[in-house]
Amino acid sequence: MTQTVVMTKKTLVFASNNAHKLEEIRAILGSKFEVKSLREIGCEADIPETGSTFEANALQKAMYVKEHFGMDCFADDSGLQVDALGGEPGVFSARYAANCGKAVGNNKDEANMDALLEKLAAIAPRQIGEGPLAGTEGWDACFRTSIALIYEGCEYYFDGTVSGHIISEKRGDGGFGYDPIFVPEGYGETFAELGAEVKNGISHRARAVGKLAEFLGV
Ligand code: IMP
Repeated sequence: MTQTVVMTKKTLVFASNNAHKLEEIRAILGSKFEVKSLREIGCEADIPETGSTFEANALQKAMYVKEHFGMDCFADDSGLQVDALGGEPGVFSARYAANCGKAVGNNKDEANMDALLEKLAAIAPRQIGEGPLAGTEGWDACFRTSIALIYEGCEYYFDGTVSGHIISEKRGDGGFGYDPIFVPEGYGETFAELGAEVKNGISHRARAVGKLAEFLGV
């Protein structure tokens, strides 16, 4: 007698409705997990993100799902940290211009970059002495992602960082957010110039998701 063994995938909620992020996550975890978005589990709430760290915000979102829907879940929170500004914009990255009291208009990313460059204009940049940017000026910075996972009754965190420099001129039209003014370490072009394939190989998000996938055995 032959037996057919049907493997059912475990369901894991990704506390996001961002189509691009969901596609990226499903491509990585999809062989082993059914990854559901907030909308797919019927969560229409605008989950508060009031923490002062990326970790706290990610946990706040994952906890919300666990408490209201009883499902295993992970959430991410990301942002840019500039050394010369003591880590700003940090958790305020998405709303930095508004936080600085600037008019935002209909292009939030432009307004955020302008607000950041205006603040940095008052701080002397560093002369970059090494790598493809040697001989130019910039401000040391990094992008960070924190993922909080609530899985089988425990909490786990996965971090990803990409270091680099903020430059004073916007370059390139790919990507989003602060990509046109961020040059990753070891490169001479901004994230917006490098394009999705290069960026997705070295980004903060890719590094954090890689650690999550490794933990989940994918
Ligand atoms: P989120 O937590 O991934 O939604 O990121 C919050 C904010 O950080 C975004 O709205 C962007 O302003 C900024 N940010 C996060 N990741 C990136 C990136 O890869 N490139 C540029 N900006 C980013």
